[in-house]
Amino acid sequence: MSGTTTARTAVVTGANKGIGRAIARRLGQAGHTVYLGARDEQRGRAAERELRAEGLDVRFLHLDVTDEASAASAAERIAQEAGHLDALVNNAGVGGPLSTPSETPADEVRRVYETNVFAVITVTNALLPLLRRAPAGRIVNVSSVLGSLAHAAARKDPTGVFPDGVFPAHLAYNTSKAALNAVTVTYANELRDTGILVNAVSPGWVATDINGHQGALTPEQGARIPVLLATLGEGGPTAAFVGEDGTAEGRLLDW
Ligand SMILES: NC(=O)c1ccc[n+]([C@@H]2O[C@H](COP(=O)([O-])OP(=O)(O)OC[C@H]3O[C@@H](n4cnc5c(N)ncnc54)[C@H](OP(=O)(O)O)[C@@H]3O)[C@@H](O)[C@H]2O)c1
Repeated sequence: MSGTTTARTAVVTGANKGIGRAIARRLGQAGHTVYLGARDEQRGRAAERELRAEGLDVRFLHLDVTDEASAASAAERIAQEAGHLDALVNNAGVGGPLSTPSETPADEVRRVYETNVFAVITVTNALLPLLRRAPAGRIVNVSSVLGSLAHAAARKDPTGVFPDGVFPAHLAYNTSKAALNAVTVTYANELRDTGILVNAVSPGWVATDINGHQGALTPEQGARIPVLLATLGEGGPTAAFVGEDGTAEGRLLDW
């Protein structure tokens, strides 16, 4: 464990652009050493350069979240450089085909789950030993209000992105985020006695590549609640699902 440091450290997956890059920026501004996860070295290095030029301690971390070996070597590097991890933000995600159940082949659903669900388990398990070594580890899973079963059943979006009675029925994406929500609660329950808090966030409707930049919020705005959850103080919530609604602490969403 050479070069072990007591500085606060964070990993953000899929941080070369969009909400992930904005989360990395905000965590850097809050004084973290940020490992900027990206599967593509060129894109990752470009984001690293941009944030380092702003004076932030941001380090490109090669991490394809769907690749176990990539997650294992990321964990090894952080163990050597920092010795612990304070915050893991599982942000990397894909949209997949935005089609209804009757039009979606199961293979397309499986493909989306590889990134939005199974990869979160891969990365979390690889980095959990380092989170356990931190005084107050935090795990944030970037989900979506579209993954809420309660709100889907009522066809009511409490964050106001969709009008009442309208709730898109995208099989692959919505159910992947519902599964991610279940994963979040299950980790939270396992880790309740460790001090590690595990929560899910719906960042709001954010203009990024995933939606052809149709969102109403900027990535910086979308990064606000994820960073709040990544930096929760002692006694903060665990197994909560928090949505951006413009209020200081966000809105508690139903699972
Ligand atoms: N934008 C919204 O309105 C919105 C709303 C609710 C939830 N979300 C969630 O927010 C998260 C971030 O999305 P975004 O809006 O910022 O979209 P984005 O700009 O498309 O960013 C997605 C990020 O995930 C990365 N990624 C995808 N597969 C990966 C893999 N196998 N390994 C590592 N990185 C991978 C992408 O990397 P590449 O550049 O290499 O593809 C990119 O950095 C996602 O989980 C999304 O579901 C977004």
